[in-house]
Amino acid sequence: MHAYMLFLLALGFIPVKALDKCQSQKYSDFAKSLGPILSPGASINFPGTDKFANATTRYSAYGAPDFAITVDVATEGDVDNVVQVANAHQLPFLATSGHHGATISLGRLRCGININLRALNSVRVLEDGRTALIGGGTLTIEVTEALWAHGKWTVTGICECTSLLGPGLGGGHGWNQGRYGLGLDQIVEAHLVLGDGSRIVVSEDSHADLFWGLRGAGHNFGIVTSVKYKIYDVPDGNTWVIGKYTFTEDKLEALFGLLDSFVADGAQPVELRHWVTFMRVPEIDPIHAVFVTWIVYEGTPEQASPYTSKMEALGPATTTFNTTAYPGIAVLMDMDRGALSCLENGDHVLRFPIDVRGYNLTAHRAAYTIFDEVSEAYQALSGATMLNEGYSVRAVQEVPADNTAYPDRFNNLLLSASFRVKPNATADDATGGMDMDQIAIEAGLKIRRTLFEGGESPDLYTYGAEGEV
Ligand SMILES: Cc1cc2nc3c(=O)[nH]c(=O)nc-3n(C[C@H](O)[C@H](O)[C@H](O)COP(=O)(O)OP(=O)(O)OC[C@H]3O[C@@H](n4cnc5c(N)ncnc54)[C@H](O)[C@@H]3O)c2cc1C
Ligand SMILES: *[C@@H]1O[C@H](CO)[C@@H](O)[C@H](O)[C@H]1NC(C)=O
Ligand SMILES: *[C@@H]1O[C@H](CO)[C@@H](O)[C@H](O)[C@H]1NC(C)=O
Ligand SMILES: *[C@@H]1O[C@H](CO)[C@@H](O)[C@H](O)[C@H]1NC(C)=O
Ligand SMILES: *[C@@H]1O[C@H](CO)[C@@H](O)[C@H](O)[C@H]1NC(C)=O
Repeated sequence: MHAYMLFLLALGFIPVKALDKCQSQKYSDFAKSLGPILSPGASINFPGTDKFANATTRYSAYGAPDFAITVDVATEGDVDNVVQVANAHQLPFLATSGHHGATISLGRLRCGININLRALNSVRVLEDGRTALIGGGTLTIEVTEALWAHGKWTVTGICECTSLLGPGLGGGHGWNQGRYGLGLDQIVEAHLVLGDGSRIVVSEDSHADLFWGLRGAGHNFGIVTSVKYKIYDVPDGNTWVIGKYTFTEDKLEALFGLLDSFVADGAQPVELRHWVTFMRVPEIDPIHAVFVTWIVYEGTPEQASPYTSKMEALGPATTTFNTTAYPGIAVLMDMDRGALSCLENGDHVLRFPIDVRGYNLTAHRAAYTIFDEVSEAYQALSGATMLNEGYSVRAVQEVPADNTAYPDRFNNLLLSASFRVKPNATADDATGGMDMDQIAIEAGLKIRRTLFEGGESPDLYTYGAEGEV
């Protein structure tokens, strides 16, 4: 069925009330102009439809962008047309892929047109075997699975359901970054729709200045409908060791002191990564938050043993040990499609990231104490976590700082307190029914300020959210 007919059918079902705050007539006119020029697989969707809901649910509903209408594009050329027609009708628009973006600026969009890129999810390995052409709406899991079938891999985020380019235009941290650089370092060429709806190709040889800016500040410069992206052969016999250790809070100094020795201010071996989550696990400690720690090592158990034996020597409360092929890592780390990190259920997830060079044990203890107290005091915040991500940075730091717009190649660790809160949750009577978001924000900022003051940097570096100390 042609998109225009879909649109006519949809017209009968427009919930006028929902659109009124956005001046429904403007959107009807927009849809009327756009319908006939979209490709046959595309659709225009109004609030109240499944497709609209599907395009607009988000990992975090806090400060989410507000949409009056969604366009599920089916071809790269559809994107040009949506942008041009939206401009002609003076309507704001935003492209989305994996729905995991959570910068506050996204929430400033009111009554926007959503350009849903999810149907642009293709991965084609090119003849040179060293690059792939990847659609602008492709998710991490789709990239990993498609390349794996060819014996290839690349750098993606580790969460299966973020897109390749949401992370990749602003950084792109993941398991393989120590070997190959950030996600954005893999971009060879981007097919870009500019704000006026015109289309250009951006690369080292074409609009080189824009190519520089796209890699680090990319979301601001246009909609990437596809990229030529570097890919690599998976080494023969490749295997990964995932050691999972849970530690009680008395081990904080010993644990983070050891991990800091692994980080060695950027000298961490390419094969090694660590991940620690502060969280409440009552079966292990009914009172205090614990440290769920993963050692992620590319190699055999014997090769990993210099690291895993040191973790065991610290006396974990629990130990789990697995080996897996690369695509199996996500499920062992709770970053797969079925995990909380992919859930889009209307919860607010408030995150307070900060990048640092190393673990300052004094500051880390102080940050932990704030986290532990607030997550204990409020039942509604008992699902809080704080992530400590320690990837190898070798290839990241080999790229000269001024090669791309990405501003932070020198920090070694990504830390982030994260509070999952039910919408409209309020505290119990003791606080006079205070807004839970507000309590989480105060605690999150306090944790970040503590970590910032424990570092040596005069400036705050945050990955994935606005900075505020
Ligand atoms: C649970 C979780 C796990 C995460 N894990 C990682 C990780 O491992 N590594 C990492 O580096 N980051 C990670 N992030 C942060 C992530 O990089 C950002 O949240 C990212 O913006 C998500 O992109 P998206 O496409 O999923 O989200 P969306 O909300 O769909 O998009 C986010 C932003 O990207 C823009 N965008 C998306 N696609 C395009 C495109 N094709 N062209 C132009 N602009 C585009 C959107 O317009 C929007 O501004 C994680 C975040 C969460 C919540
Ligand atoms: C959207 O639709 C796709 C395909 O039907 C489905 O796999 C996915 O789970 C849906 N997503 C949401 C958020 O509803
Ligand atoms: C990981 O190893 C544990 C034993 O340490 C085992 O119980 C579990 O099933 C393994 N998980 C997977 C996904 O293989
Ligand atoms: C939250 O509160 C606002 C304002 O009172 C209301 O409009 C909204 O429907 C509520 N959301 C939920 C999920 O209860
Ligand atoms: C660690 O943080 C504390 C504040 O918590 C600060 O006083 C101290 O100077 C920091 N140490 C280093 C080595 O930066």
